[in-house]
Amino acid sequence: MYLTREEERMLAGERGPGVSKAMELLVALGEIFGAERLIPVESAHVSGVSYKNLGEAGLEWLEEQAGLGAKTVIRTTLNPAGMDMARWREMGVPEDFAEGQRRVIAAFEAMGVEPTCTCTPYLVGSVPRPGSQVAWAESSAICYANSVLGARTNRESGPTSLASAVTGLAPLYEYRLDENRVPGKVVEVEARLADPLDYSALGFVAGKILGSTVPYFRGLGKPSLESLKTLGAACATSGGIALWHGEGVTPEAEKMKPHLVGLEKVTVEDRDLEEAEEKLTCEVSDPVTCVGCPHCSLREVSEVARLVKGKGLRGRLWVFTSRGVHAQAEKEGYVRQIEEAGGRVYVDTCMVVAPLKEMGWREVALNSFKGAQYCANMGLRTRVASAKQLVKEALR
Ligand code: F3S
Repeated sequence: MYLTREEERMLAGERGPGVSKAMELLVALGEIFGAERLIPVESAHVSGVSYKNLGEAGLEWLEEQAGLGAKTVIRTTLNPAGMDMARWREMGVPEDFAEGQRRVIAAFEAMGVEPTCTCTPYLVGSVPRPGSQVAWAESSAICYANSVLGARTNRESGPTSLASAVTGLAPLYEYRLDENRVPGKVVEVEARLADPLDYSALGFVAGKILGSTVPYFRGLGKPSLESLKTLGAACATSGGIALWHGEGVTPEAEKMKPHLVGLEKVTVEDRDLEEAEEKLTCEVSDPVTCVGCPHCSLREVSEVARLVKGKGLRGRLWVFTSRGVHAQAEKEGYVRQIEEAGGRVYVDTCMVVAPLKEMGWREVALNSFKGAQYCANMGLRTRVASAKQLVKEALR
């Protein structure tokens, strides 16, 4: 791979051992994928934050990186952690887990990463420009950046996004190149798409059929931001989709039209979505109802607040969002309305990255196919329904 003089110096350690290690990783990655060179990236979003997934080995690795002295040189946001950093005790998170999680966040902060702890950095001010190159991890955020915003990122991991954060560079391959952004199949959507949950189901079905092929959706209607974020999250869960196009919806769809000639078509109907829902729906008696996968927008928090305002909840209702959205929701009175009804609005975490087993969870009800699939993988009984339906069920 071609390196500029400056990049060679970075690799050789002129900017310290942290940058040198990061360069080693990026160069190795580029060589594996046949990249010709490195390119500048404008922002990074780092995953691999929950102590549940990192464990002691991951934590030690992170502290070692922080000890090497490298600092972020571009805006760098952070994915959710395993707990609300302030209200973890109330969530039922064990003390030793909390200690490990605090050290993880401290290591990231020492490197200059913003502790945003959200999978929706694009809702808290990190919004890549169309066509810009970024290095984002977190499959749902990758899908959103590539598809909805028209930015360019590969499916970065925690270590590669961190390496880009401290160098400002990424190898040029895959979704960063025009030729790899063209669709491989057309998905004709004949199913009725009313609620964001329908888009989540559609993404889940599409991911199952397409694997990592770039889909070109027709018939998406006029999806809300909430539907777009949940569609991509589900696409990346059942399959490896990192980029999708939606006719009349996403910024690159129009210029993809010449590439559609001769492409195989698949049709998604109502019964496909119903079947997907049935697979992730068991009988549950006392589930924890979770809204916020991906993390809630202000509108989603306000909808939950409207449904529970002045009422009392029978079951546990947990809403997950970012600190930024929480601050706005607090100002609007939504947080108070939800918590007065007996619900909780947590930040920094979600039902997938929190240590649910240690917290005693057995059943969960969600409005997200991504969340449901991960919870089912962890051995929990799941129920999938729209947020409206789930909140109604959780009310007395
Ligand atoms: Fe976000 Fe957690 Fe879902 S990280 S996309 S809320 S699994």
